[in-house]
This record gives sequence, C-alpha cells and structure tokens, in this order.
Amino acid sequence: MNNLNTDTDMVSITIDNQAYRVSPHENLLQTCLTLGLDLPYFCWHSELGSVGACRQCAVNQYQNGEDKIGRLVMACMTPVSDGMIISMQDTQSTQFRQTNIEAIMTQHPHDCPVCEEGGNCHLQDMTAISGHINRRYTGKKRTHLNQYLGPMLNHEMNRCIGCYRCVRFYRDYCGGDDFNVFGSKSHLYFGRARSGALENSFSGNLAEVCPTGVFTDKPYSEHYIRKWDLQTAPTVCPHCSLGCNITVSERDHKIRRITNRRHDEINGHFLCNIGLFGYEHVNHSERLDAPLLRNNNDKSSVILTSDAAKKHLAKLLSPAIIDNQQALGRCIAIGSARTHIENNAALMKLVGQDNFYLGVPDVQVQMLHMLCSAYQSNRVSPFSIKQAQACDAALIIDEDISHTAPRLALAIRQMSRNLGINNAAKLGIADWQDGAVRNIAQTSRSPLAIIASDTSQLSSLATEEVIISPDEQVILLEEIQDLLAHKLEETKSLDDRETHTNTESYSASARRIVDSLLTADTPMVITGLQSQDPALLRTSLDIASLLKRLKPHAGFYGVTKQVNDLHFGLLIKDEAGEAKYLGIDSFINRVMGQEGEDSAHNAPDTLIILETDLYRYMEAEQLEAALDAIDNIIVIDQMLTPTAQMADLLLPSGSFAESQGCYLSSEGRLQHGFATISGLNQRMMPWIWLAELTHLHHPAEIHHWLSQHVPILAPIETFSELAHINQGSPFRIAGQPQRASARTAIHAVNDVKEQMPMSASGTPFVQSMEGVEGFRQSQVQMITVLPANAWSPKWNSDQGANRSGNGNQSPWTSGITLFSQVSLSSQPACPGEHQDEQENGRQTNAGRKETNSSELTGAGIRLVPAANLYADFELARYSSPIHSMSPDPSLKIHPSLAASLRLIEGEEVWVQGEHSAVRLMCTFNRQMAPDIAQVPNTLFTLLGKRAKITPVTLKGKEDK
Ligand code: SF4
Ligand code: SF4
Ligand code: FES
Repeated sequence: MNNLNTDTDMVSITIDNQAYRVSPHENLLQTCLTLGLDLPYFCWHSELGSVGACRQCAVNQYQNGEDKIGRLVMACMTPVSDGMIISMQDTQSTQFRQTNIEAIMTQHPHDCPVCEEGGNCHLQDMTAISGHINRRYTGKKRTHLNQYLGPMLNHEMNRCIGCYRCVRFYRDYCGGDDFNVFGSKSHLYFGRARSGALENSFSGNLAEVCPTGVFTDKPYSEHYIRKWDLQTAPTVCPHCSLGCNITVSERDHKIRRITNRRHDEINGHFLCNIGLFGYEHVNHSERLDAPLLRNNNDKSSVILTSDAAKKHLAKLLSPAIIDNQQALGRCIAIGSARTHIENNAALMKLVGQDNFYLGVPDVQVQMLHMLCSAYQSNRVSPFSIKQAQACDAALIIDEDISHTAPRLALAIRQMSRNLGINNAAKLGIADWQDGAVRNIAQTSRSPLAIIASDTSQLSSLATEEVIISPDEQVILLEEIQDLLAHKLEETKSLDDRETHTNTESYSASARRIVDSLLTADTPMVITGLQSQDPALLRTSLDIASLLKRLKPHAGFYGVTKQVNDLHFGLLIKDEAGEAKYLGIDSFINRVMGQEGEDSAHNAPDTLIILETDLYRYMEAEQLEAALDAIDNIIVIDQMLTPTAQMADLLLPSGSFAESQGCYLSSEGRLQHGFATISGLNQRMMPWIWLAELTHLHHPAEIHHWLSQHVPILAPIETFSELAHINQGSPFRIAGQPQRASARTAIHAVNDVKEQMPMSASGTPFVQSMEGVEGFRQSQVQMITVLPANAWSPKWNSDQGANRSGNGNQSPWTSGITLFSQVSLSSQPACPGEHQDEQENGRQTNAGRKETNSSELTGAGIRLVPAANLYADFELARYSSPIHSMSPDPSLKIHPSLAASLRLIEGEEVWVQGEHSAVRLMCTFNRQMAPDIAQVPNTLFTLLGKRAKITPVTLKGKEDK
C-alpha cells in the first residue's frame, strides 16, 4: 500500500486512554501495529490490504469521551480519523477476539509439535495474543486430502483457518490462475483443480503469507531444523540483478532456508522462487573444498593446504607482479559478475586495469557502460522497485522482466492497478480497502505498453502490446523518440507561439504510446540487457532521457543480468571519450594475438579467472584454443564448473552465505551482505587468497583503494565501519536473537551436550547457544536493525517480524543509491546523438569471430533470446527444485516461418549460429513475431543473432 505521510498531516487518536499522533493514511490495525501494540489479525496483510474476513482485529470504538459502551469495529476496515477514541483492552472486544479465535480453532488440528510452522507460526502468535489457552471443543473436525503442489511447497489443508490470504496473494496479487478456493462454508479447500506444480514464480511466498502451516517450505523440510536452532545473517540475493534483501539461516554448516528480509524500496514482503529456493549450490556435493594443483603431464590433481596453495600462487605470479610494467602485462585476469565488488577490486589491483577483463561478453560490457554513463550524467533517473510500483505509466522495451527481473515484474503488476486505486481515491476510498478498490477498479488499468518479440506473463495487463521482430522494434522506437523530440520542440516553440508538428506519418502504436507516457505524471521506461543489442538500449535510453525532459519525474529501470554486473560499467577505462570494452571477446582476441599490438609484448602467460564459467559465453573450441595458449591458468570459484576443470591451480571460494561484501544492484544501489557461516574447509573469499600479493588485508583497505581508483564507488567506504567488528573484537552481534532455552541436541546420539556452533570469521555476527539478552539487543540496535530484532515476544513468525517496515534508517539496511548522489552535467539525448558509441558498438561486435556468410546459406533467420527464470541463473540451477522446474531447451518458431522452412513441430533441428551450432527440439509458438526464432537465453549468447535452421534428418542428407 502507498503511504505518503508528511509531518503536517498527522492526527490525534486515543487508544486505551493513551494519546498518539498517527498518520491518517493507514487503517486502524496498521496504526496499532506501527505503534507496537499487540492487536491480532489474520486476513489483513500490509501489502494485500484489508477485506475484513477473519474478524480477529475487533476493537471497541467510542463516539466521544462520554460514550462508555462503544461499538465493535474491525480495526483493519476502519480508517484512522482525528479525535478517534478506541479500546483494545475493554471486556467486550477482548472477549470477542477470544471467542472468535476459539471458533476458528475448532477445525484446526492443534498439531503444532509435528507442524514445521511451530515456533514460527502467526496462528500460534495470534492465539497467544488473543488469550485463547483452553481447548473446549470435543467434536469431530473436518479433514481434507492434500495435494502435490510441486518441488517448493508442502500442502496440509487440515490446518487451514479460511482467512483467504493465499488465494488473494496468488490470484489477485501475483496474477496466478492455477490456484483457487473450492467448496463452501466450513468445507473450503485452497489448492489446485488437480495436483501439480504451482506455476507462479512467487508461489514459494505462500509459506509465509499463509498464517498457519498449510503451506510449508519443502526444501527446508528435507533438512528441517526448528527456528530457534538456526543462526542467521542478513544479506542480498545472489541471483538476478535486483538486489532483494534476504535472511540466510544455517545449522551445522548447511543452509537450511532463505527468508524474505523486508526492504520497502526493493523486495517489500516477497521474493521470487529463485531467491527463496536457489541456495542449494552452497550445500552441493560439487562445491570445491580445497585447493587443487593439476599435474599437466599425467592430468592428475593433488590437494594442497591453503598455505601451500598461497605459496604456489605467489610462485606463479612472482614474475608477473614485480614492479615492471612489461612483466605485469604477462598476467591477465577475468573478473566476475557474480562475486562481491571487493574481490574484483583486489584482482584488478593485482593485474592492473589494462589486464583486467570483465567476465561477460564485450557487447554486455558496452551496454553496462551505456547504463552507467546515463546514470552518472543524470540523463535518466533510475527508479527503485517501489517507485516503479508507484508510477502511472510504463513502457517495457524488449525485456521479459517476469523472467529476468521477477520482483520488478511483480511491482509492475501492482502498478497497472494504480488507475483503479486513483479512481477509488476520488470516491474517498483508501488504497488499503482491497475489496472496495477492486470493485471500483474492475478492469481499469494504468497504461502499460510492451514492445517485444513475444507475449509475456504481463501481456494480459498491457494496454498496448506490439509484438514485432527486433529490427521492427528499432523502427518503432525511433518513431517514439522522434515524437518525443518533436514534443520537446513544441514545448519550447509554444512559448514562441509556433505551430504543432504534424505527427500523422507516425504509426498509431507510436502515437498511442507517446500519448500515454505524456499524459502520466511519473512515467517510466523499462528495458535491459536481454536483447544484447546496444542500438536498442541506446534508443531506449534516448527515449527515457527525452521523457525526463518533458516529465521531470519520469524514471528508468535498466535490468542487467547478474547480481553484480552493473559495477562492471564503472570499471571501464574511458580515455578521452574512448571507452575500452574489455570483456570476454577482448580477452580471446588478446590471447590469440588479434589485438593488432605487439603480440610478443602483449601475450599473457598467466591467467586468473574469478568465478566465471567461460563456457557459458564462448564456443568450446575457440575457448580451449585460447586457454591452451596460456601457461598457467588459475581459477578461483565455488563450483567445479567446466572452466574450473581447466585450471592448473584451483582455489575454492566462499559462496554468498560464506562471504561478505558489496553488490551494486541494477538500480544503482550499493548493498552489503554478511556471511552466515564461515567457509568450510579451505573456502575463502577471493580477496583473501590474493591478499599477500595485493597487500590489501582488510575490506576497509580494499574500500579505500577502490575509492581512490574508482571515485564513483567511494561511498563503499561507509561499509568499512562494521567490517572492523569481527572475531577479534570484544563485542559482536548475535546471529541468534532472543531465546531462552539451549539448542535442540540434534547430535544427542553422539553427545548429549550440543557443540557450540562455529562462528563465521570476519563477520560482526557471532553464533551463540543462547541468543542475545535484552540489554545487549538494545545496544545492537544502535548499530543495526538487522536480525537482532527479528523476533520479539508474541511475534515469533517471519510475517510477524515483517509486519511493519524497517524504516531503512542506515546504509547498512537501506544500501546507498549511488547515482542519485552524483549530479553531473544533464545533457539531454536527441536523435543522432551518440555517434561515438555507435562506432564503438561496431568495434565491439567485430570482436566476435566473423561469420562466414556461406556457412549460413539459405538462412539469415533472426534469433532472439527466450529468458526463463528457472533456467538462466547459473548458481540457482544447482538447486533441485529450480532445476526440476526449468524447461527442456527448444527452438521456438512461428508456424508460418516453420512452414516456409519445412519444419515439423516436435522434430529435431540443427541451429547453426554465427559462433557455434546446437541441436534442439522444434516447438511452435503462435504468439511470437512471425519472422524470428527463439532460443534459450544461454544458447543465444553462444549462437549469435543469425542462424541457419535445418532439420536433423535433412542435415544428415546434406552432409552425405
Ligand atoms: S490456506 Fe492458509 S492462507 Fe489460505 S485460507 Fe487457509 S489459512 Fe488462510
Ligand atoms: S532472483 Fe531477483 S527477484 Fe528473485 S529474489 Fe533474487 S534478487 Fe529478488
Ligand atoms: S484482520 Fe481484520 S478482519 Fe481479518
């Protein structure tokens, strides 16, 4: 819900004879909770609003000071008004709440001891708050059969209390249509029409949204531990580029579960399924535990101690790291888009910026640089997800955000309701009145225009959707750009009393889209890197820039691909306006001596690859030829990836749960995450492996070095403060807040005395047997509002902890929005600008191996990437629930194009791309643009933009 409070519009209310000043924009229940009062509730949710269904939040409202009787009202349905007098403690409302919950509990199985929600249950909390402590009902209870709902959730319908939250969340909020309520009266059933995996990408949130144990976290069940036995730390989701905030929980060096950590500007209450369940790589059997040295003669490997590995590393690098620039150039490195900024910084310092290649293709480096330049010059204003949700018109350009940036897509789903919410507001109905607002809004939608090559999960919300090929998209975007430029000219000309431009020659779609953007107050443009097309991104940025000049509150969201790839855009050497896009293609060119410089001088003999699987980006033969040309290959990674298998020296690194450091999200928010567990065995943060060579021995030293060498990243020094609190400090923060009993002795079979948990070294969080006492907790809160206040008496459940916003008071909890702090020149973009970038774009694309056009005879089919949430995120795919939901790779093609190519649905085809070839199943898609073919995102990077498509059977004949 949107709460726009200012100090001036606070009102006075009295609750149980105590006066308060509160916001009039919240309902009475939310107000009580914000004030820290214990008023129970079930059906209300701060993001879903109020429907008044459960009757648990009853309070007594009095007309005035003389009224001694009052009347019962449901707090969640009651607006706050000046002079309001209520009581929560009077006999009438107290008894009502007790009776109500007793009635609700007559059908509940009271199976807390075997329920995984036990100790983390909103129903338990509310029962305790309401004072229902005796079970008097002795009758029969209704029972239900449960369903299989997929790999992420268990289903135990007998625990349902009929609050309707699940169905409101799944259908109304997330747009899912494969889950519903069935039956009537006390025989309600919440599930699917038939057993089967829930399709919505946010289904996992049902475990938290449901106030009871109907839906529980299935992967957590497989290594279940009671909440009070978990140790936790706050960090940032390591998958897509949005930077959602999470809490990681562990026991015995295993990640047990991930839960949402409320950040009102980003994820709010909800994480996508990748964020919730994509952590199994941390516990995976393919994790690297110890350094390995490969003997190239017999291809055997030996395990090294970390000291021996460091010595060997120093020996390999010593010729390269002497203060002789010529020697220095013989060691090159590839940085990682999925590791912390500190690790890349240390590596860049070690090899020098000219020898530091960014671990994504050159074309992506160029696009990241374009985004960062636009943000730094203030040409466009990056929006947060909360701002995206609040905007009143949006244009999405060729980015399937439901798959590449799911939490943003969920926000845009809510944004499309803003017109209805505003219409309701005109009738005096507040946004939290969910049922009434939906009644008034009906099907009214805020303007949402989508330009893409295929339909998407947001298609049903689009007020304008144009499905065309990428080439046609560029033409349409140029029309939109032209129209906005004309409008800008008109705005200036009107002052000079000049005439309007005739726009009749532009397409109707372009005119409608421009009209909808210009009619809005806070329109926004969303695009991203999915297209891998710098021209399309450039035009999108130009449109957003023109829009910002016409509408000062207009915003932009540029979705990038990985958790930390945006900061690559800040590491690019830009000398006299000539940017060098040193990505993976440039690395190959350098190694293969194609850079045109003195190759003897330039040829590297040592390569360090940091957390990047190059096989995801390069065709194997080409890559292996390059790697074979290098004497020493050092890989630092978490997993035994195909690239890691090529290493001469392999060093294990800590996962996101074992490391700490900063990520830069795609909105430009610098955030710090903490380790929950210390790296098992010899897993270390990569900068620690390099510390003796870089002379950077502490995160604060890396931050300082970065602020000197990449000034835009100077705010990172803010995060040095807590980094000083670690194992050697007299004071640390408890990773296990407020609990009175000892841990459950899960190793009782060996020893009834539970072992003290091992604390993560280098983090401010200490793991304890007993949690933290009140006094220490109050001290802790002075430093951070992180997990130490995650529980409080009567509010043990995760949703209880998230019931009111965290306020995001400090950089530690809110992050630092990097680009709103810079105010450089505000140069607008107009058609024809960016000549240099266009030229650079050509250089970049030329970095790839040139296609022999004869290889694509009869082809020239334009390929486009199809994003898939469950298939695209490298580390998440190690989680079996995620992997099991990912589709088989296929070539999707419009039936009309298939007919012209004589392809039959279901047959296997060879897709011969610009860089490599793959064999795929051919499937038909009638919704997509007719003149293109779709391949999975990951394959698109390998294949390139054009391909020849041949049935496997035919190719066999051709080959003969
Ligand atoms: S399943 Fe849970 S969320 Fe849904 S109605 Fe029942 S108790 Fe409420
Ligand atoms: S994958 Fe992206 S959207 Fe999903 S929880 Fe992580 S950061 Fe958020
Ligand atoms: S929370 Fe108020 S009626 Fe359910």
